[in-house]
Parts: sequence; structure tokens; C-alpha cells
Amino acid sequence: MSVSIKSAREIELMRESGKILGKVYKEIANEIKPGISTYTIDKIGEEIIRSYGCIPEEKGYEGYPAAFCVSVNDQVVHGIPSKDKILKDGDIVSLDTVLSYKGYMADAARTYGVGEISKEAQKLIEVTKQSFFEGIKFAKEGCHLHEISNAIADYNESFGFGVLRDLCGHGIGTNMHEDPQIPNFRQEHRGIRLYEGMTLAIEPMVTAGDWRVNFLDDGWTVETRDHSLSAHYENTVLVTKEGPEILTLEN
Ligand code: MF3
Ligand code: CO
Repeated sequence: MSVSIKSAREIELMRESGKILGKVYKEIANEIKPGISTYTIDKIGEEIIRSYGCIPEEKGYEGYPAAFCVSVNDQVVHGIPSKDKILKDGDIVSLDTVLSYKGYMADAARTYGVGEISKEAQKLIEVTKQSFFEGIKFAKEGCHLHEISNAIADYNESFGFGVLRDLCGHGIGTNMHEDPQIPNFRQEHRGIRLYEGMTLAIEPMVTAGDWRVNFLDDGWTVETRDHSLSAHYENTVLVTKEGPEILTLEN
């Protein structure tokens, strides 16, 4: 395993691509309402990404057909946008996209409520997001990877939620997926030591029920086995000596 340490110049480029991705989410969030198809969300999202001179990196990645993954309700991740999938009041929808700017990748995911959603769904979305913030407290030079994983797992599980074990976060840079893998469930081994200049995509994928999932025959969609709701929250994060710098926030 080799984990890349970004130079000062590379960190600047990661900051630039991350900042753009934050803006993309700020814009696309306004489109999430009952009646829109997941296909249209993807199309609008792709246009926004291109409007910043960026490349939508998911499109064509291992044959993936769209710029965004759009996963509804019991779909956890990698939902393929479709004209037939129309959002309705009470749904929750997870968007996940990767863009590059001057060759440097930014990866982030958000889960949105559509119209009025249940208290349970709202709680799931909030806890998933907060678990990311619990995890990144340890995205700091000298910490070890398991501290991130364990903090994410413990926070979600304290609410009775499940965390996926089949999919992980990852390093990111000029490649979408770099070492290390970043599990969201409890680790027996402490994993690698973290150093300033590592850039990590940390992404809890959380279920309101059991953590087990099915991988569908379309080759992409991941859904909960018990059909409980699922949420996803992800940012690209720079490890520093002082702590995490989140690169992909909306502002
Ligand atoms: N963005 C996803 C991740 O968080 C990767 C999606 S796979 C793709 O790592 F094919 F859709 F790009
Ligand atoms: Co990712």
C-alpha cells in the first residue's frame, strides 16, 4: 500500500477542485423537489460541473453511465439516474459525484430530504452527517486510521443505525480511489499513521436498520437487504498537523 502525500502545489489544486464541488452541491440542492427525475438531477448536475470547467469523473468510470450517483430511500449508493425514477414527497435521496479540476479530484456525497420527510429519516440524515464530523476529529497527523473508523461506527451505532462494511472511504488525488481504504466500521488493527498532506474521502454510508446490502444486477446499485432507509455523507479532507481541513463544503 502506498499513500500519496500531496505537495504544497498539489494541496492548492485539491483545494480548488474541492471548493468547486462545494459550489456544485450548493446549486444542485435547490433542484431537489418532488416531481424531478433522478435523470434530470444528473443532467443538471453535470451541466453545473462543466460550467466550472471541470470534468465529471464518474461518467465512464468502470463503465458507470452518469456524472452522479443518485440513490433513493433503501438504495445506499451507486443508484443509476433514470427517467422513470421520480422523486416524491417523503423520499430521501443521496447524491454522490466526483469532479476533477486540472487533474485533481474532489469527491463528496450528500443526502437530501424531498419535501416533508419522517422524523426517522431526518434523524438518519443528521446522524450520518454528524458521524463524519466525529470521524474527522482524528484526521490529524499522528492519529491512526482506526480512530476515524471507530468514531464513525460508534456514533452511528449508538443511535441503533447500521454502517456498511462492504464499501469504504479512500484516499484521493489524481486518482478517484487511492490508498488507504477507510472503513466505517470498528477496526481491530490501528491501520496506518496519518501524515500532513494526505487527502482522504471519508464517507459514512449508514442504514436505519441492518448494515447488510445487496448488489443489484445492473452492476451498480447497492440497496439495504432489509429495505431500511439509507444515508450517505462524504467530503474530501486534507490531513494537517492541527487537524482536518474539509475541502468540499458548500460556501
Ligand atoms: N463517488 C464514489 C465514491 O465515493 C464512487 C462512485 S463509483 C462511480 O467513491 F462509478 F460511480 F463513479
Ligand atoms: Co468516495
